[in-house]
Amino acid sequence: MARLTSQRLAQLEHVYKTFSTQRGEVRACDDVSLVVTKGQSLGVVGESGSGKSTLVRILLMLIPPTSGRVWVHGTDVTHLPERRLKPYRRQIQFVAQDPLSALVPNLTVAENIAEPLWIHRIGDKSSRRETALALMEKVGLTLALGNSFPSELSGGQQQRVAIARALALMPELIVLDEAVSSLDVSIQAQILNLLQTLKEDMELTYVFISHNLAVIRLMCEQTAVMYKGRIIEWGESETLFATPLHPYTRELIDAIPAFTAQGVTPLRAVGRKTFEASGSTVTGCPYHPRCPLASEVCRRDRPSLRPVGDRQVACHHADVAHVSCAVSRRRGHEKRLVEKGGNGG
Ligand SMILES: Nc1ncnc2c1ncn2[C@@H]1O[C@H](COP(=O)(O)OP(=O)(O)OP(=O)(O)O)[C@@H](O)[C@H]1O
Ligand code: SF4
Ligand SMILES: [Mg+2]
Repeated sequence: MARLTSQRLAQLEHVYKTFSTQRGEVRACDDVSLVVTKGQSLGVVGESGSGKSTLVRILLMLIPPTSGRVWVHGTDVTHLPERRLKPYRRQIQFVAQDPLSALVPNLTVAENIAEPLWIHRIGDKSSRRETALALMEKVGLTLALGNSFPSELSGGQQQRVAIARALALMPELIVLDEAVSSLDVSIQAQILNLLQTLKEDMELTYVFISHNLAVIRLMCEQTAVMYKGRIIEWGESETLFATPLHPYTRELIDAIPAFTAQGVTPLRAVGRKTFEASGSTVTGCPYHPRCPLASEVCRRDRPSLRPVGDRQVACHHADVAHVSCAVSRRRGHEKRLVEKGGNGG
């Protein structure tokens, strides 16, 4: 299939997703609207249970939204039958946290990489093997591993195979859900370097989910912050990290490890908290019980995502005064930490 030309690769429009569980209904996505633009990799961050994986499973067309629409290259694919979804599925590939979950244990490395071509009936046996070997080289795997089985490889090598497999169909968009978080730090760096190189060589765009904000900042031009199933801030990574507008974004950024006299010190561990109830059960702003800036209007009215300066923010008080206040507060906090050379508690 020829490459499609639209710069708007994928879009979620007012997407809701509700799961029925024994604890009652969980709203994992709560009116999520997002655009993924070609060449603008998008990082999605937020604490555990905020709905990141649900959002990407909907984007990957693996689960349908409860309501709302999913667009790929300007086509509404929300209700397309499976046979008509195939060309769109090719355009968006997935790399998961656990590479073994994506690989077939009784196929060799080369067969695993070639399998998507076989599924999509592309080429013959020998051309598929040739493509697989070329992709192995591309992701830095020695060709001697072509006849090995996934279980015989290290974690880093398995993730390289999973990446090669995701590349087999020449996608434009690759969704990576915590794709490096289970690897050793040095292997993580190698895989991130590989992903950067592939991004440039193959003009790829990523949707990157990670609890590690430093990784998002490095890999993604755009960042979306999720809280309780909602996007609460979305914009260019550079400005969002430099001047977060939403108090929750500030909280996440304040939790990035700081460099102090005694090395790297995590300020606060908010990144992996799990929330117990969906945001829809809280009146007003879902963040108000935790927010130092909460006012009467916050407890009463739910803020919608709206343009504020160069980005979208869902906060009643995302104005310039709070930005400068937050930045100076953060600078003061970091300065005190360095002076103390201790931890921020
Ligand atoms: N298939 C499902 N059935 C029931 N509830 C689900 C299902 N999938 C997700 N959920 C719930 O939806 C909410 C969002 O889950 P999701 O996995 O999208 O969060 P996440 O941000 O990816 O979290 P993590 O960072 O831990 O991976 C959670 O409360 C989760 O328990
Ligand atoms: S709307 Fe109010 S409670 Fe919510 S994040 Fe903004 S200031 Fe805090
Ligand atoms: Mg997840």
